[in-house]
Amino acid sequence: MATKSKILFIGGTGYIGKHIVEASAKAGHPTFVLVRESTLSNPAKSGIIDNFKALGVNFVIGELFNHESLVGAIKQVDVVISTVGHAQLRNQDKIIAAIKEAGNVKRFFPSEFGNDVYRVHGVEPAKTAFGAKVNIRLSVEKEGIPYTYVSSNFCSGFFLPTLAQPGATSPPRDKVVILGDGNPKAIFNMEDDIGTYIIRAVDDPRTLNKVLYLRPPGNIYSFNDLVSLWEKKIGKTLERVYVSEEQLLKNIQEAAAPLNMFLSICHSAFVKGYQTNFEIEPSVGVEATELYPDVKYTTVDEFLNQVA
Ligand SMILES: NC(=O)c1ccc[n+]([C@@H]2O[C@H](COP(=O)([O-])OP(=O)(O)OC[C@H]3O[C@@H](n4cnc5c(N)ncnc54)[C@H](OP(=O)(O)O)[C@@H]3O)[C@@H](O)[C@H]2O)c1
Repeated sequence: MATKSKILFIGGTGYIGKHIVEASAKAGHPTFVLVRESTLSNPAKSGIIDNFKALGVNFVIGELFNHESLVGAIKQVDVVISTVGHAQLRNQDKIIAAIKEAGNVKRFFPSEFGNDVYRVHGVEPAKTAFGAKVNIRLSVEKEGIPYTYVSSNFCSGFFLPTLAQPGATSPPRDKVVILGDGNPKAIFNMEDDIGTYIIRAVDDPRTLNKVLYLRPPGNIYSFNDLVSLWEKKIGKTLERVYVSEEQLLKNIQEAAAPLNMFLSICHSAFVKGYQTNFEIEPSVGVEATELYPDVKYTTVDEFLNQVA
């Protein structure tokens, strides 16, 4: 059996990163995480750090803005997965420069994990975030770095516990706000499953220089269908309050960060349907559940059982 690639994570202690790091270590890849000293001693991160230690993850001290530390970390591995957050998207040019200098990387996964940014359009502030991801893709391609782009659409854990209700901390039980007419379909994937599929793709030649789309058939729902499913779970019919696109655009303009980002991303998916309004072109991308049919993913139905 071929040996498993060594993987370096940059941003591995973040919201999405920790799930992919865990999947990597559990799948038996020698797993490295670039961390700042301050993260190792941050009490808020101790749970994540302890879990990584238990999984045998290797810590490499470094930081995005220290070129030598990046090059040194990258030279130890075969594959680099960036899971840095919105605030650092543009700074991934530092990772690209370090990968070029190190010269040994077989594959780079830039921080994406949402829409296919070559296909999506958005209003501000989502527009700027999508644009930053596009610019990183263009640099990766210009530099000839082998890549996989992951389009994992919505994270279930981020959107489903509140049924994507702006500002809510619990799911709706009387009234539900639906953006637009509720008919475009969106896609929801559990964070652990996103990690599992990404790690399967790391050494797979079929995903080289491709977009890896996560479109599990059991996880594609319109907002109206999602509400109907939820109503069945709680045995109650909710009052559906529809927000017109015009009103939503006004709300986005008036909202402060981070609500404006949340609403503008919801606008692109729930109102415009950008997660599902195109067929996958085989020359551009591949679909994860088709490549790895043996992976048992968590369906939206199963996820909502835990929320109800
Ligand atoms: N589809 C969805 O539903 C969804 C949801 C959320 C995010 N996303 C996407 O997922 C990606 C990751 O976002 P996230 O929210 O998971 O990120 P995040 O939680 O903000 O994590 C950022 C990571 O980068 C690290 N970092 C920050 N500055 C650094 C520096 N100077 N040097 C080294 N490391 C640094 C952080 O370290 P510390 O731990 O020390 O802070 C953390 O590990 C983004 O592309 C985002 O758009 C998608």
